[in-house]
Amino acid sequence: MACSFPVLDMEKLRGKEREQTMDLLRDACEKWGFFELLNHGISHELMDEVERRTKEHYQQCREQKFKQLACKALKSGPGTGVTDMDWESTFFLRHLPVSNMSDFPDMDEEYRKAMREFATGLEKLAERLLDLLCENLGLEEGYLKNAFYGSKGPNFGTKVSNYPPCPRPELIHGLRAHTDAGGIILLFQDDRVSGLQLLKDGHWIDVPPMHHSIVVNLGDQLEVITNGKYKSVLHRVVAPSDGNRMSIASFYNPGGDAVIHPAPSLVQKDAGGVPETAVPVNGQPTTTP
Ligand SMILES: [Fe+2]
Repeated sequence: MACSFPVLDMEKLRGKEREQTMDLLRDACEKWGFFELLNHGISHELMDEVERRTKEHYQQCREQKFKQLACKALKSGPGTGVTDMDWESTFFLRHLPVSNMSDFPDMDEEYRKAMREFATGLEKLAERLLDLLCENLGLEEGYLKNAFYGSKGPNFGTKVSNYPPCPRPELIHGLRAHTDAGGIILLFQDDRVSGLQLLKDGHWIDVPPMHHSIVVNLGDQLEVITNGKYKSVLHRVVAPSDGNRMSIASFYNPGGDAVIHPAPSLVQKDAGGVPETAVPVNGQPTTTP
């Protein structure tokens, strides 16, 4: 099976290789639902700072508590496997429409500042990507951003996760298989400890860790708007047996009252296609990488 995970160098969108790069993006959206970005415009220094502070925060504020809870769950779980929980330590920062950053007293001011700056860069990147998708789909610029807007703008938030080493990886998944309920998801994942996998053509494929890259996947709402042309695919995280995996997933989702439906022009283009039912969403992710 040919499976070269799609990696896009965004710098090439400015030069002679633009058409080729847009084709690669289209192919990734249609056949993978996932791709990885290089030269995405977010500085490596900021990414390094976010990673360092996230790992410090986990060690100082979360690790001990997670170990206590997790060991208890493994001891009390059935011998055949744990199916009702994930092996992850996580918290969710909301940026839009209203920040909840002040609800986390264990974050120090430097960590908050770095996460705010990172979120601002990711918000711009998400909106740029939505317009690149519009271009490939033949939709007018801004169509997807407007579709997500509702009355108060998009919901945008970041799920900060750590997947510590699991003593019994055969019993429990890091994160069970799921698709993402929202719009477009931008992931800053650990470049040393892998574990994220997506389902393609019936096989689980590793999403390769790459230093300073951003992994992007498409959520269910984009699959609906594109009338199924672009895919929201199943993915999961395998619990690491050694090393701590960091995962910072940011969700650019439709606003709480946005009503999502297939773009009319994509229904017309799809000969014989039947429009899907409009899907109101609450804008909050239910599951994440
Ligand atoms: Fe996910």
